[in-house]
Amino acid sequence: MKILIINGPNLNLLGAREPDIYGAVTFEDYFTQLQFRFKTLELSYFQSNHEGELIDKLQEAQENFQGVVLNAAAYTHTSIAIADTVKAIKIPVVEVHISNIHTREDFRKHSYIAPYTKGVIVGFGLEGYALAIQSFNS
Ligand code: DQA
Repeated sequence: MKILIINGPNLNLLGAREPDIYGAVTFEDYFTQLQFRFKTLELSYFQSNHEGELIDKLQEAQENFQGVVLNAAAYTHTSIAIADTVKAIKIPVVEVHISNIHTREDFRKHSYIAPYTKGVIVGFGLEGYALAIQSFNS
């Protein structure tokens, strides 16, 4: 099974960005661990700070992947366009947030994307990505 992890804006800064909220590990290092842990799956990773690139990647994913793990970061709370894409594509998407968005500012509590996902995992740190992958594996 091929799973694509897509990270949105500023998640290229993981490890350095607000480590009290997002932790001190880079996503590249965590991704290496994920590949080791889920050896039977083919995992890929894509990050972009650009809304249109995230949309292009989601559309393309249905040709090559059986599922997507998506952390759209701040676009979660603003992007009807990404929500429309998640609704339109034929493969399941699991939404992940590293932090617990429900304990933070009010503007982070709403997700335009969540209604069109298989499920949402929030607040478990980077481990949320592993939980999302497990949901495809079972
Ligand atoms: C985030 C939460 C968002 O509100 C924020 O804009 C992010 C990261 C998270 O993973 O906790 O960039 O998606």
